[in-house]
Amino acid sequence: MRDSEKGVGVMRIGILTGGGDAPGLNAAIRAIVRKGTAVHGAEMFGFRNGWRGVMHGDVRELTKESVQGILHRGGTILGSSGADPYHEGGTATVRQTFADLALDGLIAIGGEGTLGAAAHMTEEGLPVVGVPKTIDNDLSGTDACIGFGTAVQIATDAIDRLHSTAESQHRVMVVEVMGRSAGWIAVSAGLAGGADMILIPERPFDLSEVCVHLRRRHLRGHLFSIVVVAESAQPVEGSMERPEYPVDARGFPRFGGIANLIAPEIERRTGYETRVTVLGHVQRGGSPVAEDRILATRFGTAAIDLAQRGAWGVMVALRGAEIVEVPLAEAAKVRPVPEELYRVAEVFFD
Ligand code: F6P
Repeated sequence: MRDSEKGVGVMRIGILTGGGDAPGLNAAIRAIVRKGTAVHGAEMFGFRNGWRGVMHGDVRELTKESVQGILHRGGTILGSSGADPYHEGGTATVRQTFADLALDGLIAIGGEGTLGAAAHMTEEGLPVVGVPKTIDNDLSGTDACIGFGTAVQIATDAIDRLHSTAESQHRVMVVEVMGRSAGWIAVSAGLAGGADMILIPERPFDLSEVCVHLRRRHLRGHLFSIVVVAESAQPVEGSMERPEYPVDARGFPRFGGIANLIAPEIERRTGYETRVTVLGHVQRGGSPVAEDRILATRFGTAAIDLAQRGAWGVMVALRGAEIVEVPLAEAAKVRPVPEELYRVAEVFFD
């Protein structure tokens, strides 16, 4: 596009949402578009279905009107996908789209995969700013990611509900939550919901020890227990059958079902009636909690400011109470649950 066709000096910015959707994505899109248009006088473009839309030039203009009424809505109005131009033909199609739309830059909202692609684009000289989103909360460089607060609230509500039925029926409830590479949801929801045991990938578990613990609880008169397990938790070698998982198109394991292996073993080894709840994608669905709307809005407004300054190759991040920027290359790495947080939850395994 020629300068005569676009407003001379008008900033033109694309937005994409990639990877697994998370509550709060729409709040981030709204914040970027509203501040971009009203404060920076920018023209904004939304790519459909993550990096795939950038590769195929599948785009629509975003205005104040097109982001009205989406602050509280789950999912993403732009659609999402796990497409990664770096692994699907390189940067040529992305460069072509930038040229066709005369884009000054792109804001990529995503997790490990989407921001990993953004980091590669940055290395190739393309102007990209990242915004961290994943219910898993496992991105390095930031204390929090969009979607995590909502997922923890949903899992906590579920644990609260399971408590009353577990207690009435004297059962062990095994609750499986998401967390592909780290146990943030498990530890946080387990802590908030008063779990009696939490199993996470950072600490391979021995089921015999879990059963000893449950028996001890029962002997002390607690005739029910809540075990929260992250989908990616692994038993120590030889302690029980190790689960195997298929791999998705991006090479990530498709977890799900560890609770179904653990529960019958607990029942067999302890004699306590045991039931399974797998929360699955419910944790990603529906309206974002206030915390996620606020975080997404802070991230979104900070990201468009960075674009306006031409500060490319970085991701907006939360550090303590501050919004800061970190190099994209550092951000797209997994951040495990710190030992200290697990120890706090562990105090209540009695
Ligand atoms: O990364 C977010 C996440 O929800 C993980 O917790 C989970 O393992 C994965 O995505 C599920 O992916 P999909 O939506 O492809 O099943």
